[in-house]
Amino acid sequence: MTQILIIGAGQAGLTAVQTLRGEGFDGAITMLGDESFAPYQRPPLSKAYLLGAFARERLFLKPDAFYAQAGCELLLNARAEAIDRAAHTVRLADGRVLAYDKLMLATGTRVRKLTCPGADLPGVFYLRDIADVDAIQPVFTAGAKLAVVGGGYIGLEVAAVGAKRGLDVTVFEAMDRLMARAVSPAVSAFYKTEHEKAGVKLLLNTGVEAFEGAGKIEVVRAGGVRHPADMVLVGIGVLPNDTLARDAGLACDDGIVVDRSAMTSDPDIFAAGDCTRHHGREGVAIRLECVQNAIDQAKHAALAMLGRPQTYSEVPWFWSDQYDLKLQMAGLARPDDTIILRGDPVSRKFAVFHLRDGKVAAVEAVNAGPEYLMGRKLIAANAAVPPEKLADMSIAMKDML
Ligand code: NAI
Repeated sequence: MTQILIIGAGQAGLTAVQTLRGEGFDGAITMLGDESFAPYQRPPLSKAYLLGAFARERLFLKPDAFYAQAGCELLLNARAEAIDRAAHTVRLADGRVLAYDKLMLATGTRVRKLTCPGADLPGVFYLRDIADVDAIQPVFTAGAKLAVVGGGYIGLEVAAVGAKRGLDVTVFEAMDRLMARAVSPAVSAFYKTEHEKAGVKLLLNTGVEAFEGAGKIEVVRAGGVRHPADMVLVGIGVLPNDTLARDAGLACDDGIVVDRSAMTSDPDIFAAGDCTRHHGREGVAIRLECVQNAIDQAKHAALAMLGRPQTYSEVPWFWSDQYDLKLQMAGLARPDDTIILRGDPVSRKFAVFHLRDGKVAAVEAVNAGPEYLMGRKLIAANAAVPPEKLADMSIAMKDML
């Protein structure tokens, strides 16, 4: 009987199990993960779950009974330590050795850590998994002084939840604008205003040099300026978990390199999700950190493991919830795109379109569902839309094509 082994029990791993069974695979499936939880959604962790408005049970992507029903052996608290490609086996930290015919790596990412003095003091937190949020909750209380290092997705979602819960929040961001990795300057500027309106203090161009103290922490920034804090939340990006693949001799380049069918440099090993680097629909090597890519690439990996590879060309999409603002993005922007603003940011409902060679390449939409949905379609269709038409609010999005 064919044996498929999946390392990583997250969104990508689960999607592969569902796709394999949905496509009629009747061999054995084993999925292992090093956390103590069955696959769960990460997006609510920095939003409703941190706020205390989302029950733990709702995080899980499937009820526990699903795995037995799907004929998937789920091994939790199980850490893969080495792949023996010649023997087609994987050794776990507890000494077990599992055989595979096809192997899928869905190992995700880990947080990038600060290395400055005091970075390991109690009270300095990161946010990536359930256990992290559970550790933060007891000190995440009204009146507490929260220092957030990193004005990216994690930092700003936590800042928004903190402001809502009555914490006194200061964000330290190394770059000259918020979410610089992910959004255009217009959207960065809009979010800066919104956070400031909510009482969040934003320090741009500001790195952190050290943390000092015990109990109360002093955040020390360049020039020795000190900020007292009760807790620190660090969100300065993530690193791909590609060590297992690298040690096994698979091609890696800040992520496990896969082709557009999700195959690694070994034809019996596939990979999906945040841990991979692939050439997407634009032909540029990229590592995508998003739920969409985890799901779509896992479907491709499953089909490829069944001998039916398909070419990945999905439009990437992302979202972020901060306050009552829903930011939805699709496509991948480039700095030299032509920028078209539709709507007025002051109305808290607008979109930024990115045109490349006259065609819609990306969209960022704030509280603007139709702009986002139609934007995704225009990107997928590689559609050319005149800039003045995109900007004209009297023309409905449905009439853009
Ligand atoms: P990020 O890359 O979005 O943001 C990190 C921020 O930290 C950047 O603004 C960067 O300039 C700043 N930074 C880096 N080093 C710094 C330093 N030493 N001092 C001060 N600032 C520094 O990464 P983030 O926010 O940690 O998110 C981690 C992962 O979680 C990503 O994969 C992200 O896509 C995912 N995520 C996605 C969400 C969404 O799509 N809504 C929400 C939350 C997380």
